[in-house]
Amino acid sequence: MTDLERPVYAANWKMHKGPSATRTFVREFRDRYGTHEDRTVLFFPPSISVPAFREASEGREDLGLGVQDVHEETEGAHTSAVSASMAADAGCEWGLAGHSERRREFGDTDEQVATKVARLAEEGVRPVLCVGETLEQRRAGHLEDVLSRQVERGLSAVEPSTRREVVFAYEPVWAIGTGETAEPDDAREAHRHVRDAVRRSVDDDAAESAVILYGGSVKPHNARELLETPGLDGVLVGSASLTPESFAQICRALDD
Ligand code: PGA
Repeated sequence: MTDLERPVYAANWKMHKGPSATRTFVREFRDRYGTHEDRTVLFFPPSISVPAFREASEGREDLGLGVQDVHEETEGAHTSAVSASMAADAGCEWGLAGHSERRREFGDTDEQVATKVARLAEEGVRPVLCVGETLEQRRAGHLEDVLSRQVERGLSAVEPSTRREVVFAYEPVWAIGTGETAEPDDAREAHRHVRDAVRRSVDDDAAESAVILYGGSVKPHNARELLETPGLDGVLVGSASLTPESFAQICRALDD
């Protein structure tokens, strides 16, 4: 697994953009974004669009490619699912695990998420473990408990030697797709809880060097303030990553 430049700008397209729309996006994005070696830019298209993304971004090693989810088994009778080894074979270097939409809509448990993280790591696909609290959990004062549990369980199936490769995305469930964004101070506190959980699960070095992204209604107008928050190493962007212009603006938010 490779080193990465911070900040990290990651686009999670969810169930948007088939192969044709993916090709169009990549063509436009390449022009608008230009080339910058001092940051990491990643895309998580739907898996059916992964080959189109690869083809359209040919020669652009700086545009990383990832899979939105994998099944926890290596193969078998699981209609519609893809495995970590298939994702690796298709050219994905990154893989999300535990996105709150997977947890909520598909019932992914902490144990399943842990296995997915482990499968990705075994295949050399760098896992991005997504964690985050619901509004009810936050209001009930359970922020730290929820984040600690999701991080510690999420890492539990990964070989100790590769745990430090895992990237984290703190995405408060109440901020995803709602237009509500965490205040920088709230994000800072949550990121500290994630880092503390990494310290308990791995060690001090891993906690200090852990890459922790923030996600939840990141837009061109708020990206800079969030990215300037100490302890925040990048952003995971949903709806604002769907147009080349707004995602390119986010990727350049710290430039002027
Ligand atoms: P959003 O999604 O930017 O549309 O809130 C973020 C995410 O779910 O990764």
